[in-house]
Amino acid sequence: MGGSCIHIRVATGLALVLAAAVATTACEESPVDKQQPVYSCAPDEGNQLYEQRIAPLLATDRPKSCNNCHLAGIDLSLFQRATPCQTMACLHERELVDFDNPEASTILTWIDRATPGDGITQAVINEEYEGFLAWIEQSATCGTCPTFDNPCDEAEDAGEPCTGDEVFVDPGDCSEHTREALFQDRVYRWRDRCYPCHFDNKDNDGPNWIVTGSCNLASLKTMHNIRNAGYIDWQNPAKSLLLQKPLAQSAGGIEHGGHDKFSSTEDQAYRDFLSWIEREVSCTP
Ligand code: HEC
Ligand code: HEC
Repeated sequence: MGGSCIHIRVATGLALVLAAAVATTACEESPVDKQQPVYSCAPDEGNQLYEQRIAPLLATDRPKSCNNCHLAGIDLSLFQRATPCQTMACLHERELVDFDNPEASTILTWIDRATPGDGITQAVINEEYEGFLAWIEQSATCGTCPTFDNPCDEAEDAGEPCTGDEVFVDPGDCSEHTREALFQDRVYRWRDRCYPCHFDNKDNDGPNWIVTGSCNLASLKTMHNIRNAGYIDWQNPAKSLLLQKPLAQSAGGIEHGGHDKFSSTEDQAYRDFLSWIEREVSCTP
């Protein structure tokens, strides 16, 4: 089946506009495509499908659609567990796959976000998309393996912790790549100043928005926590809670359960935080 067919099927808005053209060109075979593939549900079918279509996608040297936006290590292999069964169970627990409607699976929308470029070709994206769709459909039809108590356990946080030693040269743009790397360089590297009160692996009073574990993923999740928690003041960056809470009250900060962490606005961490916030503001329409 044609790759463009897959793509258009997902981009529904576009599909409407192009419907007429598509019907006669790229998706000529679409009635066939739409048919549910038939699975025999033989005992080893799921494993075979995994070996043939999924395992090659996770090979370390293969370009990954996810890295179109995310830093290294944030890709489909994040969910890989000891066996194919457990991997699928983990994806299901995270609600990244939808057994009632495989095509609506979140993991497919993530794959489909990528656009060709930077070593990622449309063929790479299609192979991931079709491979995962087939595997989800097979699992939905035939059922998965035994039940796991905690399928996502381990592995996920097994990557390297962030050392903060890397030298980051800011390209100054608004790409997802740059924003993730900038956050790591300007904010996440200072996290020890907020230890242990805001760490997710510590039992404490403070709100736990600092995620620990594998460097690039932990940093990305922390960035989203900060955005989602409302710690950024989009109108007036210097008034952001992320800055005002740790800043000494004598320097214009507000009362903080963790007391003064930045003695003045000259503090290097304060300046780094502010520069990241200003970039986020300028990059967010
Ligand atoms: C076109 C850019 C793009 C592509 C491609 C992409 N993502 Fe993302 N991803 C984002 C953005 C932006 C967010 C944050 C907000 C959201 O969820 O929409 C995000 C969020 C995430 C998160 C959540 C982090 C958190 O806060 O918990 C994970 C995990 C993730 N992506 C993994 C992946 C994986 C795995 C792939 C490949 C299958 C992928 N992404 C493909 C842009 C992308
Ligand atoms: C000694 C413990 C401690 C340390 C260290 C600490 N905090 Fe806090 N922080 C707290 C507590 C407790 C609260 C909740 C009470 C409050 O809002 O002041 C809090 C609240 C916050 C809030 C508001 C959270 C919310 O959801 O309203 C932000 C933002 C914050 N801290 C940022 C930081 C930053 C940034 C650092 C490191 C530079 C830091 N804190 C270091 C204990 C700490």
